[in-house]
Amino acid sequence: MSEFLKVAELDEVPVGSLRAFEVDGEPVCLANVDGTIYAFTDNCTHISGPLSDGELSGCVLTCPWHLAQFDVRTGKVLRGPARQEVLTYPVKIDGQTILISLPEE
Ligand code: FES
Repeated sequence: MSEFLKVAELDEVPVGSLRAFEVDGEPVCLANVDGTIYAFTDNCTHISGPLSDGELSGCVLTCPWHLAQFDVRTGKVLRGPARQEVLTYPVKIDGQTILISLPEE
């Protein structure tokens, strides 16, 4: 298991929002669903639309480009045209700090 890296403070990601960050050169999107933070890559698996510019409704994220939908809790595809699930990252909260673990290279 790789180490956890700091992404942001909790108050930077209000309930119901999506926010883009860069962690170790990787584009990361954080989503706050009813106070629980989920983290995943900020590239849609269709043709790399910026998921952080999409819409979050509950745990359902809609890509801004061609409206594919994903479950932010698992990364699973709920609606095409995307076929491949988005990569999600383990999240840890330390006080007010959000940390994630990126996969090993
Ligand atoms: S880039 Fe996301 S649906 Fe096309």
